Amino acid sequence: MTSNHVFFFDTTLRDGEQSPGCSMTTQEKLTMAHALEDLGVDIIEAGFAMASEGDFAAISTITQAIRKPRIASLARARQEDIEMASRAIQLAERPRIHVFLASSDLHLEYKLKISRQQALDLTGESVRLARSFVDDVEFSPEDATRSDRDFMIEMIRIAVEAGATTINMPDTVGYTTPEEYGRMFAEVRERIPAIDAENVILSSHCHDDLGLAVANSLAAIQNGARQVECTINGIGERAGNAALEEIAAALYVRGDRYGVQTGIKLENLYPTSQVLGQIITFRPSPNKAIVGDNAFAHESGIHQHGMLANPLCYEIMTPALVGVARTHLVLGKHSGRAALRHRLEQLGFTLSRDELQQTYYRFVAMADRKKNIYDQDLIGIVPDHIRERRREPVAELD
Ligand code: KIV
Ligand code: ZN
Repeated sequence: MTSNHVFFFDTTLRDGEQSPGCSMTTQEKLTMAHALEDLGVDIIEAGFAMASEGDFAAISTITQAIRKPRIASLARARQEDIEMASRAIQLAERPRIHVFLASSDLHLEYKLKISRQQALDLTGESVRLARSFVDDVEFSPEDATRSDRDFMIEMIRIAVEAGATTINMPDTVGYTTPEEYGRMFAEVRERIPAIDAENVILSSHCHDDLGLAVANSLAAIQNGARQVECTINGIGERAGNAALEEIAAALYVRGDRYGVQTGIKLENLYPTSQVLGQIITFRPSPNKAIVGDNAFAHESGIHQHGMLANPLCYEIMTPALVGVARTHLVLGKHSGRAALRHRLEQLGFTLSRDELQQTYYRFVAMADRKKNIYDQDLIGIVPDHIRERRREPVAELD
């Protein structure tokens, strides 16, 4: 019986930082770590201690400032990496070492140039070494989804016997599909009974090369994964990692399908995304789910009319649920009279039917010329006699 709690393992500061334009100073990582703690993530992968002095410093700074989430450092299956990771996290309240070693023949032959047997030996030795430093050890067979299944399962069995407490199966190159990835979790649980018997946590780690990272993560959860590895705004290697905000919102909004609990404070999703956007060199694209500028914006007349009648017509969650201040009815060439009247009311103008019609003609002519229409533009097209009887606005100008 698996528990129904899904742990969120955030790797924004490690896998996320490994992508172009995302490098962060220690101070910036600390700011981000505080935001992640407030968000309620269970584990923060703070870096890869052996990668650089900066990474080591950031991990040890974070371990001293952040007390609630577990703090993990990544390490290759090498003695020097594992020792360095253990030093970086030694002051953590709840430290974790995350050891990874490739399991696909492609990586073993071309990248590591070692045999399968050597990889199996290294798995046992490195997990045992990590366990000599901490009780909480995660093992990842890198490139799991392109590995020979029997061999990868053997590797996992050895890692569990050596004391790994979490087994993460990364879709390192974003190659898998939801149905295939889900089945892999089911098969591993079936073929290694010790996983469920000894409460070893299975974890997903998905990259977005085919745009399937979140769908794959959800499929893993449906098949028993109880940890998801993800990043804020989906940043990460190449096309990125599974986006934390999308997984958390999907598990909540479609709780009817997933039936699991998380510790994520949903109302902190947007604020956390904003913190990251101010630290790295880019913000999420406007059409990004949950945290993009347009995630709660509506321009077309039909949608705006529906939204004004009942927001459920076109929104599956309230913006407030994820910490966004309000729904935005954007006025543009697709908008109708209902939205124009609504915004003008907010700006202090009450219009009769004829006055609205007259103003609407002016609005459409302007919208055909301009891509963005601001409140000042709207005020400019209101006929003079209406402007004279303007009330106190109830909304701030954009
Ligand atoms: O994508 C990957 O395989 C990784 C591992 C180091 C877990 O990031
Ligand atoms: Zn990764």
